[in-house]
Amino acid sequence: MTKTKMAIVVLAAGLGTRMKSGLPKVMHPLAGRPMIAHLMATLETLAPERLVVVVGAEMEAVAKAVAPWQTVVQEQRLGTGHAVMAARDALDGFDGDVLVVYGDTPLISAETLDRLRAARRAQAQPVIVVLGFRPHDPGAYGRLIVGPIGTLDAIVEAKDARPDQLAVTLCNSGVMAIDGARLPGLLDRLGNDNAKGEYYLTDIVHIARADGLSCGVVEGDEAEFIGINSRADLAKAEAIVQERLRTRAMAEGATLTDPSTVFLSHDTRLGRDVIVGPSVVFAPGVSVGDNVEILPFCHLNGVSIEAGAQIGPFARLRPGARIGADARVGNFVEIKNASVETGAKVNHLTYIGDARVGAKTNVGAGTITCNYDGFFKDHTDIGAGAFIGSNTSLVAPVKIGDGAIIGAGSVVARDVPADAMALTRGPHMVKDDWARMFRQRRAAEKAAVQAKKKE
Ligand code: UD1
Ligand code: CA
Repeated sequence: MTKTKMAIVVLAAGLGTRMKSGLPKVMHPLAGRPMIAHLMATLETLAPERLVVVVGAEMEAVAKAVAPWQTVVQEQRLGTGHAVMAARDALDGFDGDVLVVYGDTPLISAETLDRLRAARRAQAQPVIVVLGFRPHDPGAYGRLIVGPIGTLDAIVEAKDARPDQLAVTLCNSGVMAIDGARLPGLLDRLGNDNAKGEYYLTDIVHIARADGLSCGVVEGDEAEFIGINSRADLAKAEAIVQERLRTRAMAEGATLTDPSTVFLSHDTRLGRDVIVGPSVVFAPGVSVGDNVEILPFCHLNGVSIEAGAQIGPFARLRPGARIGADARVGNFVEIKNASVETGAKVNHLTYIGDARVGAKTNVGAGTITCNYDGFFKDHTDIGAGAFIGSNTSLVAPVKIGDGAIIGAGSVVARDVPADAMALTRGPHMVKDDWARMFRQRRAAEKAAVQAKKKE
């Protein structure tokens, strides 16, 4: 069977007033990328003939996020039906299935959309098939009014519903598949005589039924259809996405000691036998090789970690950090735009930025690369097998050769050749008995002052 042609219209022009945000609603992130990007990734797998995103005026950020797919601008926000009308030119001459999805409902799966498509092609050939679900709390969702033989008669918005209609538990996800040849005629007849004074897309069901055409419902799982209208909804959706990502990471062979405290990004890659302790956050762009252990309370962002490395606890790895195989990065260490090569150790209280730490080098506690002078960032290059004593400041640009040793407490502002020792330290002064005599003198002075006060 050859598949019918499909066009997809994504509605994303809404202001998202209930988010109370300066950011367009669909740009709010889930697992480290805008919610609309999640939706687009799913829709692309369906290989549609056409895909058009309806955005509002001044929503360049959304247009950029969905590029190279086409966007059309809905100048005035007059409702979901009006938004589909804005896509009319883009759908011109298209007579396959038109799938309408809402940008604020990004968790839908490709399998569910395939089921919807199949239902449109079922023998009865309903002109419209709507994805319905039974949420825990039907709240403000539109209600699906189903006739005695299971066909869909109407969608009633909660604000316009009678009490008996509000009692219906089957709700509108907003996703529907429509016969493209009929869509223009149905849109022509949409009115705005309702509680919000908007052109509701949902009214096309009623209009189709009045023409004697049949409409259907396919039911799906609530977790896929959560519509994000508020920050509270956003948090619920994030929880669902995180749950999916954690399950996938574990299925692929990572141990998450306390999964509910680990936060992943949409693109986090964890190898086999990776162990992630409690309270670890993976911002976007992190890939972790096999057998890596990440101890509790680490924050990782834009980092690659090779096999066998050990990170944390309490490590912060920032964009451009590259941690080599079997390397160690310990507690209260921050690394940015730097590579820590195979087997190197940076174990405690250290900042490494714009640098290379050669293989097997040991960086002592409290080492700082002074990489910024307020104007430019400069590079620190530390060779292999070197030893950087504790509390060393490396003032970039500076080069420490292979095998060099830096004495503790040094401020190194000049290059150090391979296998050399460098040390910058004030003279060591010891005065015998000085401390004892100091205490004696001061105690006597204090007693004299107190005696005077009593007089
Ligand atoms: C809508 C449905 C409701 C359904 C719910 C599912 C209608 C009339 N109601 O309600 O039945 O249960 O979604 O989550 O369709 N948009 C535009 N232009 C507009 C208005 C909206 O592009 O002029 C876009 C929004 O960006 C959003 C989507 O359409 O992505 C839905 O709009 P929204 O206002 O959130 O509709 P709901 O009230 O949630
Ligand atoms: Ca919504």
